Amino acid sequence: MSDIGLSGPGRGLFDAWSSFYDLEAVQRATYRPVHRAVMRSLREEHAASILDVGCGTGQLDADIVRELPWARVVGCDFSHGMLRHAADRSDRVRWVQGDACRLPFHDARFDAVVSTEAFHWFPDPAAALAEFHRVLVPCGRILIAHATSPAHWVEELLHAASRLVGEPFRWPTQDEMRERVERAGFTVASQEHIARLPGGLLFAPILTTAVKPDRHSASHATRRPAAHA
Ligand SMILES: C[S@@+](CC[C@H](N)C(=O)[O-])C[C@H]1O[C@@H](n2cnc3c(N)ncnc32)[C@H](O)[C@@H]1O
Repeated sequence: MSDIGLSGPGRGLFDAWSSFYDLEAVQRATYRPVHRAVMRSLREEHAASILDVGCGTGQLDADIVRELPWARVVGCDFSHGMLRHAADRSDRVRWVQGDACRLPFHDARFDAVVSTEAFHWFPDPAAALAEFHRVLVPCGRILIAHATSPAHWVEELLHAASRLVGEPFRWPTQDEMRERVERAGFTVASQEHIARLPGGLLFAPILTTAVKPDRHSASHATRRPAAHA
């Protein structure tokens, strides 16, 4: 399995996208089903501190603070445009500008890391997973949701096409996602299919939930960050 290569999509794409990202029809068809699936899981987690990586305009985080009022929520995104809209949405969430592959947080800061419809954009998925692992407490959880490719060749085709237009992304297959997560030192708890029409039939979104083992059972070394605040 190959990685995306270290240059990902430009921030400008997302800054521009932020102006119409919250269109009701798009949200309802694409993002709400995913957010609902993540919320269902989070209700059972009782996580006190939650990091959302690639938080976009912060719709999910606003839901989290409304439904789980005890939770301290941090939304992180590299796009200033997205974060501007997020800041207008809620002042109960801490919004932080940062890159998924070099998260600006100390080790073991969060009980849960969520990421919805963003992971496929991260230019170095292994580095992002290593960062999720680093910032989680032992026994903390990741909840990562994104569309999947039905087969590896479809993934490669889409990846090649997205590179051609200069905004590379990669939708892994479900099995590849499981492998990636396990290679980063997590134990996969579940991979749930999320119902979404119409594109969801071909590129079915999944929610992968996985646990960072506690110190005694941890067997994988994780990558250290270059710098963090
Ligand atoms: C399709 S949006 C999803 C936003 C949100 N999670 C949601 O479910 O509505 C993808 C987001 O990932 C962010 N993103 C992409 N690459 C990133 C990176 N390397 N580091 C941080 N954020 C990134 C983009 O700026 C964008 O806000």
